[in-house]
Amino acid sequence: MAEKYSDVPKEVGKICSELTYGTWRKQSGWSPLTVDIAEGTRFTDSSGKEYLDFSSQLMCSNLGHGNKKIRDAIYEQLTKFEYVQPGYATKIRAEVALLLKEILPRSLTKYFFGSSGTEANEAAIKTVRMFFHKERKTKIISNYNSYHGSTAGSISLTGDFRRIPVDTYYSVSGIVHSIPPYCYRCPLKLKFPECNLACADYNEYLIRNEGNIGGMIVEPVTGTNGVIVPPDGYLQRIREITKENDVLLIADEVMSGWGRTGKWFAVENWNVQPDVLTTAKGITGAYLPLSLVATSKKVSDYFEDNYFAHGHTYEAHPVSLAAAKAAIEEYKEKNLIARSSELGKELGRRLEELKEKHKSVGDVRSIGLFGAVELVKNREKKTPFNVYEEKLEGKTLTTDRVSKKAMEKGVYINNWLNHFVIAPPLVISEEELSRGLDTLDECLKISDDEVA
Ligand SMILES: Cc1ncc(COP(=O)(O)O)c(C=O)c1O
Repeated sequence: MAEKYSDVPKEVGKICSELTYGTWRKQSGWSPLTVDIAEGTRFTDSSGKEYLDFSSQLMCSNLGHGNKKIRDAIYEQLTKFEYVQPGYATKIRAEVALLLKEILPRSLTKYFFGSSGTEANEAAIKTVRMFFHKERKTKIISNYNSYHGSTAGSISLTGDFRRIPVDTYYSVSGIVHSIPPYCYRCPLKLKFPECNLACADYNEYLIRNEGNIGGMIVEPVTGTNGVIVPPDGYLQRIREITKENDVLLIADEVMSGWGRTGKWFAVENWNVQPDVLTTAKGITGAYLPLSLVATSKKVSDYFEDNYFAHGHTYEAHPVSLAAAKAAIEEYKEKNLIARSSELGKELGRRLEELKEKHKSVGDVRSIGLFGAVELVKNREKKTPFNVYEEKLEGKTLTTDRVSKKAMEKGVYINNWLNHFVIAPPLVISEEELSRGLDTLDECLKISDDEVA
């Protein structure tokens, strides 16, 4: 860790919590950790205490902190010009587009840049609706147990409880929720493979009976809601159904992209070619805000002769694109996609061990360096420790207590309702991976003690 270079005044945390909003929470009781400096897989708070970043902050700092090449690339672009309006061409925009063409699924050939995953999904909704404007096929299917963003359209796509406080008066119409491929808690109470992928097939029923469905959005591996890896065949079946019914398939790879699952993009794990792919987070390794909507030729051809009624001031921001170019080069040079797949095997093995050992662990799931540990109060009944209403009330959850203990031991592990999302920077060493998992192992004693 580099030397501490700034003295953070003590009142910083207090000022931030009093004068700025903490996201996704009741505001009272927010006493944020003040971060002073971050480097590699570590960050340090204002007291000088160091933490291993076991979740890449919000599953986005994939390349670790303080990467010199990305910092220099940002600076270099700034020395030329910081911004020109998106109607102009820039060298950096062309360079990033060419790199994307190399690494994205081959179906995706034209790109729109935004600033966040939320914006990308908002743009994806509009893209589908503009594309099927004449046919009036404006409805979009999205799964429960998903997260797609916080604005009107993207929170409407969202299938988890974050949609509920703003439902009805804020959401956009025409979003139809469907059954997620969540085998541990199958909503249909079936078991894979005997289920024959009934959750996937249900979408055919939905498309036929609902009418006017133009799109279906899926997280190829569901992120925040528990790293739900679909059973083999699910995404392929969804692709078949959407193709047969002339429905555009949108892969939301905001979290699952950029090597997280051991492939550049998660859809590659099942050889699925979507019509639209949205992503953000790891595209710049979180060095600057940037998102992407990548579309197939079928979609982009439509807009050759039809008005593309969308845009932002900061679309294709040159400095963010400079960060993306350097980030993509870093993923390649450091061979991080293969590394995620390789280290992922060890992560998977260790997670299975945790499940064996801890009675509060109901299920573990992982793919690449993307893992979840789901806690239960009762293994047989799969009773969750907490329900979402408690999260909305601001109650301290069992996973909060475990994560807090891990922080005390110097490891940051992101927790959400009843699970932890383990998503370390792809540059993590084997020793660090092991240390993070050892810490989680020790801290799970807290949830074991709370088992009914
Ligand atoms: C799958 C998915 N989609 C969309 C979003 C929203 O992205 P952002 O927070 O950059 O707006 C997220 C954020 O976590 C996400 O995980």
